[in-house]
Amino acid sequence: MTKIPIHPVTASRISSVDFNNIPFGRTFSDHMFTADYKDGAWGNYQIIPFGPFEVHPACLALHYGQSIFEGMKASKDKNGQPMLFRPELHAQRLNASARRLSMPEFPESDFVDAVEKLVGLEHEWIPPAEGSALYLRPLMFGNGEFIGVAPSDTYKFIIFTGPVGPYYPKPVRLIAEDQYVRAAIGGVGEAKAAGNYASSLLPAAKANASGYDQVMWMDAKEFKYIQEAGTMNLFFVIDGKLVTPETDGAILKGITRRTLIQIAQDKGIEVIEKRLPIDEVIEAYRAGKLEESFGSGTAAVVSHVSEITYRDLTMVLPPMEERKIGKMLKATIDGLRAGTIEDTNGWVRPIDKLERLSV
Ligand code: COI
Repeated sequence: MTKIPIHPVTASRISSVDFNNIPFGRTFSDHMFTADYKDGAWGNYQIIPFGPFEVHPACLALHYGQSIFEGMKASKDKNGQPMLFRPELHAQRLNASARRLSMPEFPESDFVDAVEKLVGLEHEWIPPAEGSALYLRPLMFGNGEFIGVAPSDTYKFIIFTGPVGPYYPKPVRLIAEDQYVRAAIGGVGEAKAAGNYASSLLPAAKANASGYDQVMWMDAKEFKYIQEAGTMNLFFVIDGKLVTPETDGAILKGITRRTLIQIAQDKGIEVIEKRLPIDEVIEAYRAGKLEESFGSGTAAVVSHVSEITYRDLTMVLPPMEERKIGKMLKATIDGLRAGTIEDTNGWVRPIDKLERLSV
């Protein structure tokens, strides 16, 4: 384990934050973790005051997109104990993304150690309100200073944090995309690659302009099979069963997705992971068997879907009062994060608080 020196801020900005009004992704805490990859090894680990850093104009990630990230959350229980949720899975997924983009893996135990230290230091930034959390953004990018399509020779890995409220404060309206694609099998759809999000912006803006919150991505070959929503994986409750598109290489391997599947199975709900044709969802809707739909993600947690439009058909889903499975899954994951539901799976990791004066 490499030592992480901490260089604390002289004055915290926390008193300027209104914890009752925290839009997603706009407020950042006092410190960040940084590491550098050079000469074939990661080093220079440190926790420093949050703030900008310089990049060279030829910075490789800016030109050729060698940039990957993670999203994870820290919460605290009613006694104020800070906790992380399945951090090792985020370390593993970051490295899966790194391998796909020819980037160096970051040692998983160092990742977890860095996250623990940072959250321990920033524990006062974890918002107390239910549904809010301290969001953590691990980011790795190639910062090589040359022009040319080749893997970078140097990389930067940073983790910064900020308190967040819900990503989607109300149920979302989706429109199935039938012009643009997010990812094809063999591409980088499974990786948390920055470029996946860049290419989603135009279709998302068009969807927003037509009154939808998000695009529902379809497979790249036939526009027939449901993939995901870009910001979240998708689930459908059809005739009491939980159905979700299988991760086929073009869909992000969501950690919340995996968690919800296990919670549902443990509660005796049948979960079906399969290539999911939109026609099957339409058929269920017409037969009155499409009971619920929701998205899952670290940011989205469980975000209910109120409406799905596919070409000229708009499927209006049952009202919230009638939804059971999505609500139960959300309450379970929120309860695990708040420490009000017993964690029998070892998903929640308590974090030692670091007092700033003692660091
Ligand atoms: C997350 O769920 O953490 C993501 O990275 C998705 C993004 C929409 C915030």
